[in-house]
Amino acid sequence: MAKITKLDDIVSLCKRRGFIFQSSEIYGGLASCYDYGPLGVELKRNVRDAWWKSVVQMRDDIVGLDCSILMHPLVWKASGHADKFADLIVECKNCNTRTRVDHLTGQAEEHTVHVSVEAAIAHAGDLSGKVCPNCGSVGKFTEPMEFKLMFETQMGASIEDSMRLFLRPETAQGIFANFRNVLDTTRVKIPFGIAQIGKSFRNEVTTKAFIFRTREFEQAELEFFVQPGTDEQWWQEWKQLRFNWYLELGLKKENLRLREHNPDELAHYAKACVDVEYKFPFGSGDWQELEGIANRTDFDLRQHQRGIRTLNNWFENARDLEKVELAGEADDYNKGPLSYFDDEAKQRYIPYVIEPSAGIDRSALAFLVDAYDEEQVRGEKRNLLRFSPALAPIKAGIFPLVKRDGMPQTAKKIYDGLKKYFDCFYDEKGAIGRRYRRQDEAGTPFCITVDGQTKEDNTVTVRQRDSMEQTRISIDLLQSYLRDKLEL
Ligand code: GAP
Repeated sequence: MAKITKLDDIVSLCKRRGFIFQSSEIYGGLASCYDYGPLGVELKRNVRDAWWKSVVQMRDDIVGLDCSILMHPLVWKASGHADKFADLIVECKNCNTRTRVDHLTGQAEEHTVHVSVEAAIAHAGDLSGKVCPNCGSVGKFTEPMEFKLMFETQMGASIEDSMRLFLRPETAQGIFANFRNVLDTTRVKIPFGIAQIGKSFRNEVTTKAFIFRTREFEQAELEFFVQPGTDEQWWQEWKQLRFNWYLELGLKKENLRLREHNPDELAHYAKACVDVEYKFPFGSGDWQELEGIANRTDFDLRQHQRGIRTLNNWFENARDLEKVELAGEADDYNKGPLSYFDDEAKQRYIPYVIEPSAGIDRSALAFLVDAYDEEQVRGEKRNLLRFSPALAPIKAGIFPLVKRDGMPQTAKKIYDGLKKYFDCFYDEKGAIGRRYRRQDEAGTPFCITVDGQTKEDNTVTVRQRDSMEQTRISIDLLQSYLRDKLEL
């Protein structure tokens, strides 16, 4: 079976079939920003829904949240992003292109992880022999400099009112900032989690590889709060649960692995982190991060207790984040506003956090790549996407064999009945073989055809995408048949 080997093939399939387009394409495009077309938007929604079902709906110990993208600037001071979320970069004096130093030194070629500035400096070595990836000049670089990754914006209509804000670089902080609200308004008890799906923004220096790394993307994050001391056990548990989620949605086992971070790869907030990695078809086939599962300890909640204590200083310094110093930690921080009283342990503490953090766009790309297949059928090439039924943008195509003898009317009636329950597509144009092929390429698992026999015995053919086998089914049984097969 032929497989996609180049990113270009995926990009062209996505454009041809309306999965993904370049943003602002009619104006020549906007780098690293993408739009989801009619099929892509359904695929992405299904990825989101599958995550939400597994992480929130099916669990009694996890609740959801949807926080605003814009947050108080002190959130980012407390979380460490305002000071530490930066890449170490150099500029090529020949072509003025900026490159991450860790990419030049081969530490993290194409890697998504943001290497800390300290680690990048420690590993940088001599750059005089390094080659500019854009123009090929050797060693013509400026001194390394820090490049902040958060996008800035202004809030407020007048100059006096206006405040410098940031677009969130992760959804997680909205969860930490609402920890007390959730405790006070629900019956959750530790161990419990708060989940959120939403957009995040990072002014990435390197944005190759299609939707793999973009400046605007969607994250699905869970912060799972646990009693300190039980964090290691929960980290192991979530590592396995999240790995299995990708398998259950059809990614091939040989293309998935878990990889633990080295200490110098860890983000400033993490004690340990393991990545679920997928073998993407970039270059010779690269293992790349799909999701990170981090042990964030009590870092964030403790930092936000310091953030709250910084508010006076904030106003005294005319709300200027550059001038504001983060307050120290209170001696009794364990009893602070973001602490938790554990009824069972009869103890008050700041919970530890295990964080599985996935990318919706990046997962969608992995599902697309993994599902793609080509085969020869009676001397003709058949392209298909072998999506798991839960992810398929369209669940059933419904066709009349020909446009006469009442077949379109019957097919329309079936379509109207089924579309209440499943995403369906009605098509009566062109030869039936071509209609099947179009649905194969869209990843539609079933095609239902009304033919001459339908009028006689009220049955239709149901064609399976993968095997191309056709079965006759009574129209009355279609809904339960599909529900059963689609496992919905
Ligand atoms: N809260 C932890 C956190 O944000 P991360 O490893 O930086 O951790 C988590 O991001 C996930 O978000 C990644 O595994 C990836 O799937 C996705 N992601 C991060 N940066 C991205 C980008 N620039 N473009 C697309 N997806 C991205």
